[in-house]
Amino acid sequence: MKTIEEMNISGKTVILRSDLNVPLKDGQVDDDSKIVKSIKTIKYIIEHNARVVILSHLGRVKEEADKVTNSLYIVAEYLQNKMQTEVHFIKKTKDANLKSEIDSYPLGSIIMLENTRFEDVPNKLESSNNQELAKYWASLGDVFCLDGFGSAHRAHASTAGIGSYIPYCLGLLVKEELSNLSYLATGPNRPFTILMGGAKVDDKLKLIESLLPKCDYFLATGGIANSFLKALGFPVGSSLATGDMEVILNLRKLMLNYRDKILLPLDATVGSTYDENYVKYRPTSQIGTNEIIYDIGIKTINKYKIAIDRSKTIFVNGTCGKYEDPKYANGTNQCFTNLSLSSADIYVGGGDSVAAAKKLGFESKFKYLSSGGGATLEYLADGKLQALEYLKENGYVENVNA
Ligand code: 3PG
Repeated sequence: MKTIEEMNISGKTVILRSDLNVPLKDGQVDDDSKIVKSIKTIKYIIEHNARVVILSHLGRVKEEADKVTNSLYIVAEYLQNKMQTEVHFIKKTKDANLKSEIDSYPLGSIIMLENTRFEDVPNKLESSNNQELAKYWASLGDVFCLDGFGSAHRAHASTAGIGSYIPYCLGLLVKEELSNLSYLATGPNRPFTILMGGAKVDDKLKLIESLLPKCDYFLATGGIANSFLKALGFPVGSSLATGDMEVILNLRKLMLNYRDKILLPLDATVGSTYDENYVKYRPTSQIGTNEIIYDIGIKTINKYKIAIDRSKTIFVNGTCGKYEDPKYANGTNQCFTNLSLSSADIYVGGGDSVAAAKKLGFESKFKYLSSGGGATLEYLADGKLQALEYLKENGYVENVNA
């Protein structure tokens, strides 16, 4: 697949799919890693006599009310300050006059449209890769560039569909990510350990089956660990865990097949459903009905340290708990400190884990911070990313789709 450097973009409009799905806190950008990593391709485009129309999603938009908190406006403003160049934010995803509005900006301009997932309400047009929508977005430009590595595991209208209607290429960030992560996907130095936690439980649980044969230790934290504990019959109280019976049965099977690889928490720090100041230490066999596992305990930290110290390569996806709340940050702080002291090559992927690594000051101790979370996991699991696969099979061919 061609990269942007191999395309003639001079005098053209490039539709750029970035992943600007950044964590927000109190309506502000909480970690700008994805924005910073996206700038290279944006700059490349405007410096090559082209205008860029940036598309991205932000959060999950399931109903009309989600649009209020998920406008990309805040990200456009942030990008403008960061680049010290005007970013023209158009508060629309579709409109009869959009093309002429875009064309009215001179070459070298940066234009950003509203959150692509606004098109998911009410009919999931973006997520279902609706061809009318993809064709419409393609009609706004001349070249499609996929640069949002973090979204490349989703074959949506904005990440994949557009590429059926105009020439397409990969951006500099996707190129950088693939060259760094192909080592992990093809055979890293072993022992190879995966530490997995975080909130997108059901998305990740589907990948674990493919990841387990590839690693030597699998350290589970957060909702992933709770789901395994639940599958084994431990009480998880009101903690985040899968409710999908099929997944639970599968986790039980995986536990039997990979009992030496999968490490689960022995203890936890818990909160409660009725008191936000509640902080108690518990063995994982004694979680109360109203209690919520928010962090791993000291025995677990020490157990995981043994695997960390034995490893030559480690991939971290997720934190060890609700680290943004100081009451429940000890597990992540200690575990990330142990990672920073280990001699293994550490790769980190996923918004929360990258933000934690940066906040704790370990950025330079880790070998690579990826902008992808789910995308990185999928790439590790089977060396494929759905958007790229779609483009390979359904991408624009001159004179056929014209
Ligand atoms: C991410 O943050 O992992 C990407 O932006 C993908 O987000 P999604 O899981 O909502 O598709």
